[in-house]
Amino acid sequence: LLREAGRHVAAVFSPRAVLVISDEQVAARYLGAVTASLQGAGFSVSTALVPPGEQSKSKDRLFDLYEACFAARLERRSLIVALGGGVVGDLAGYVAASYLRGIPFVQMPTTLLAQVDSSVGGKTGINLPGGKNLVGAFHQPSLVLSDVAALATLDDRQYRAGLVESVKHAAIADAEYFDYLEKNIEPLLSCDTAVLEHIASENCRIKAAVVAEDPTEQNKRRILNYGHTLGHAVETASAFSLLHGEAVAAGMIAAGMLEDAMGLVKDERLSRLRRLLEQLGQPTRIPKAISKAALIDLLKRDKKAVGQWPRFVLLEQLGRTLCKESQWAHEVAPEAVETVIEALV
Ligand SMILES: NC(=O)c1ccc[n+]([C@@H]2O[C@H](COP(=O)([O-])OP(=O)(O)OC[C@H]3O[C@@H](n4cnc5c(N)ncnc54)[C@H](O)[C@@H]3O)[C@@H](O)[C@H]2O)c1
Ligand SMILES: [Zn+2]
Repeated sequence: LLREAGRHVAAVFSPRAVLVISDEQVAARYLGAVTASLQGAGFSVSTALVPPGEQSKSKDRLFDLYEACFAARLERRSLIVALGGGVVGDLAGYVAASYLRGIPFVQMPTTLLAQVDSSVGGKTGINLPGGKNLVGAFHQPSLVLSDVAALATLDDRQYRAGLVESVKHAAIADAEYFDYLEKNIEPLLSCDTAVLEHIASENCRIKAAVVAEDPTEQNKRRILNYGHTLGHAVETASAFSLLHGEAVAAGMIAAGMLEDAMGLVKDERLSRLRRLLEQLGQPTRIPKAISKAALIDLLKRDKKAVGQWPRFVLLEQLGRTLCKESQWAHEVAPEAVETVIEALV
């Protein structure tokens, strides 16, 4: 698909100026093919690269990219292409959301996490030193081109951590899809193309349906945050030595234990979730180096906290999220959360 990018973009946009934003690592592998293909389809292409890694979701890189937009003489009808993982997608997406008050953009996700999650749904943004994704905008891509062949060059740990978001989508919305994941561990771990195409499309289907109902996260979209409330805290407290997916894996186990403590669990979901995550090589505990106090402090400052305490997304059963009094995120007593953290560290 990346080699045919020009044809696919041309199906949505007539020829115009395009700025392809990527990171150095992805660019070394795929930028040449994408640029050549876009040029072949009549687009006039400029490129801008950032260093790989979360640090690039910063105000400095953002402003470098605004300068690149200016140098490339982008106009409001021009196009930005985000070629890379979630970092590039969030950053380039926010450039597109804000430069000239918004120009269209296309996602070409190259990590599993980006293909099964971040490229769909229109959340874009950057980090502040004090926290992740604190500055951003909702800006939907006009096209998402997921080439699963690009995953062949992805590092194994990144790849496995990306599978966690697939498990999450299955857990919150589709028990049959959860079965499918359980039955396909081997092909999943060996990057089988047919299985990858299936999971990329299943995740897009599930996430797009939730986002279409609630694009700006007034309520139901919160279910996509399953496992993320404690997960984000663990990710930050680990000083990002844990990958996002790895932290979310532990966060989903925590959510399952809260459901258990609250008497919501009547199926085998917690043990199935734990087994599946373990088979995918994901942590189901919180690293010892992380203190409970640090996690509680981070939870109090959660972006979505109400009165300094976050709400939790919980499952009613495998494949169905709990909705009570038309709310999709719920109050959980701090003591219950502390008990779960103690058990998980
Ligand atoms: N917008 C959303 O809805 C959303 C959802 C989930 C996560 N995110 C964000 O996504 C980011 C994480 O994204 P990520 O996990 O994709 O990380 P990433 O973009 O940093 O990519 C991980 C690493 O893999 C490299 N890489 C990417 N594609 C490659 C390929 N095909 N072959 C070889 N190397 C490749 C990158 O250079 C990078 O070093 C976080 O900032 C997170 O906040 C956003
Ligand atoms: Zn996530």
